Amino acid sequence: MKSVTSLLLFHAVRPEGRQVGQRSPATGVGDHCHLIASMLFLRQCGRLARLGLLRTPRFQSLQDLASPLSVCASGLRSRRSSGSDSGRHRSEPHGHEHTFSWKHLLAGLLAGSGAVLSYGLYQNQAEKAATPVESKGGSPSLPVYTQEEVAKHCSLAEGVWVTYKGGVYDITEFVALHPGGEKILLAAGGALEPFWALYAVHNQGHVLEILSEYKVGELSPEEREQADSATDPYADDPPRHPALRVNSQKPFNAEPPSEILTDTYITPSAFFFKRNHLPVPRVDPGTYRLEIQGLPKGPVSLSLADLKSNFPKHTVTATLQCAGNRRLEMNQVKQVKGLNWGIAAISNATWAGARLRDVLLEAGYKPGSKFQHVQFEGLDHDVTGTTYGASIPIRKAMSEEGDVLLAYEMNGEELPRDHGYPVRVVVPGTVGARNVKWLAKIVVSEEESSSHWQQNDYKGFSPGTDWDTVDYKSAPAIQELPVQSAITQPAQGSTVSCSKGELTVKGYAWSGGGREVIRVDVSLDGGKTWNVATLGGAEEGQEAATSPPPGRAWAWKLWELTVPLPAETQELEIVCKAVDNSYNVQPDTMAPVWNLRGVLSNAWHRVKVTVRKD
Ligand code: MTE
Repeated sequence: MKSVTSLLLFHAVRPEGRQVGQRSPATGVGDHCHLIASMLFLRQCGRLARLGLLRTPRFQSLQDLASPLSVCASGLRSRRSSGSDSGRHRSEPHGHEHTFSWKHLLAGLLAGSGAVLSYGLYQNQAEKAATPVESKGGSPSLPVYTQEEVAKHCSLAEGVWVTYKGGVYDITEFVALHPGGEKILLAAGGALEPFWALYAVHNQGHVLEILSEYKVGELSPEEREQADSATDPYADDPPRHPALRVNSQKPFNAEPPSEILTDTYITPSAFFFKRNHLPVPRVDPGTYRLEIQGLPKGPVSLSLADLKSNFPKHTVTATLQCAGNRRLEMNQVKQVKGLNWGIAAISNATWAGARLRDVLLEAGYKPGSKFQHVQFEGLDHDVTGTTYGASIPIRKAMSEEGDVLLAYEMNGEELPRDHGYPVRVVVPGTVGARNVKWLAKIVVSEEESSSHWQQNDYKGFSPGTDWDTVDYKSAPAIQELPVQSAITQPAQGSTVSCSKGELTVKGYAWSGGGREVIRVDVSLDGGKTWNVATLGGAEEGQEAATSPPPGRAWAWKLWELTVPLPAETQELEIVCKAVDNSYNVQPDTMAPVWNLRGVLSNAWHRVKVTVRKD
């Protein structure tokens, strides 16, 4: 996975394509990216020059790009420095004239780098890559500052200083290069730790390396200790089951081991996959309110008790699947951005709560009115106070057969904190992202949610679309997911015994929009010959996965097949594919459905196993 910096540099130095700073035909996002890229590139040039690498052949091949980069950057510099000393060195951070350009530049950066930042939020390698920033050569000569002195440098006018692990950094000039735009100013005059804990993308070697270049001093030892204990926004996250396979710790994203995923028809809540973009909020059920806005009658506010006692309790068994389920396999075709989910970012639960339809009718919704969407907002938020949000079409929300719930129970108990306590939306048949947890607000509207996760994420694109050409406005938000299936047993790379002369293969199958899976085909020879699996698979005493009402097949089907092992086989390529009742079938390979965000990954699932002679 490319780091943000290398990604941007890649844009800057790619040989074909547009020149740096040239407007992206689609969105203009490329503009900002290229602007940042060019600045980073120039910065890199400085480093290379110091290291004496500018004369290498590799650098020569990049030199053609240097002039547009310089033009772009000098334009930027002249804009930045109008009325001020453009030649000022980094060690003189104060008194910059920022009025025009910082505002515009930062606004641009913020808009243009949203995708990069959001990618950063989800990428899973961040935690692993964290290394402390070493003082250069122990930096014995660097001055010692107090927290109070650092706090004075809290604006572009006063200079932007931050602390990290006891070091003091003057990042004034880095603000313009920050892929997350002006959010960096929230840390001005204080510690970076609480912000980096939230945006775990920062905990990577190259980010720390960039930071180290801005080091101007040390905190006193006593203050260093205080800084070390800076608050972690994830400190109050709930405990999780140790068996979960963690994709990212902060925010917490994890899936159950695929071997146990289909052991039960209903996934125990502890093993249900967890997909959080932000820290889990702590909500007091006594003071909790759900606000409903946008309806002609005016706003309505409901307590948890209102929700439980004023509306009939409705129970639905529904599978939730993350748009990024099986991204790992897409990544193997070509690098995508996002958490590397295996086959278990999908789970099945029994949900209970009030129907959204009942609540909206009670709040004054009149069928046939102009509204097109129902927007949801969660209580989880980032450092700027931006909350998670999404929306669904009003048609789904109000359909008598849509079964959309304001759920307060999961598997017969109150919702666990990770799954949205005290109330979440459950939108059966719809991508996980629209099932908003910790629900705070519902807005009935003519517009979709303006949330980043509705507008600039969770959309599908052509395999030919890349980060230079992507136009998020050109694609609809994912709602219903396509048909899906995967093999849970045997596991990829495992060894199976041929002593019984037969093999049992197990897995799950599901389709979005309430379309029922009607068949699962399984092959042991990579797709040359096929057998039909038995659908069902519910354990005794649990609700069977058969015969849902037409158009309301919200829950997965577990399937199983026992077949004779082909004689003399040493290796098998087991393949499965599901067919839904619209006769939609999974594509055979991933490449034709590859997309830059690695969503909607639903090609035939393939598992290679070795056969052991007993
Ligand atoms: N709701 C809020 N408030 N915050 C979130 O981060 N994640 C969404 C959705 N609802 C999310 C949210 C995504 S992307 C998915 S896939 C599902 O919740 C996951 O639900 P789960 O964690 O209960 O499995």
